[in-house]
Amino acid sequence: MTETPDSPSNGREGTPLPLLAWKSEYSLGIPAVDHEHRELFELINDLHATLLVPGSGTTVMDFLGELFSKISSHFALEEKLMRDGGYADFAAHKSDHERLLDEIRDLMDDYEDGGYVDLNRFAADLERWFSVHFSTHDAALHRWSAPSA
Ligand SMILES: [Fe+2]
Repeated sequence: MTETPDSPSNGREGTPLPLLAWKSEYSLGIPAVDHEHRELFELINDLHATLLVPGSGTTVMDFLGELFSKISSHFALEEKLMRDGGYADFAAHKSDHERLLDEIRDLMDDYEDGGYVDLNRFAADLERWFSVHFSTHDAALHRWSAPSA
């Protein structure tokens, strides 16, 4: 595998820098949940790596569309858990999910209208969103769903 000259590398040949970096502060200390969140990051990074492969045929629109569907299915699982269990803060938690999905939809609309998508800025916004959401809404949800964890 050869490296393209303009793709950032972490030193391993042909491996681009991940779009999202997992930070220890994202961990809630609940293994199953942390595993799921890490998996979501990996999926997003894998999608992004595909986008960087020359000739892969993956477009920014494909990338954003797939990313949107991975994130929404993760959210749908959490929302089912909350709905089924009669979680008191369901509305607030769901609306935070909706806020991120709306932002991604807006980005896709802008891109479709010929706008430029700055993926690094998008990644920074995503990391900021995840960092706040994990440590507030998700932490509260998982304290509720697994009080002994
Ligand atoms: Fe959540």
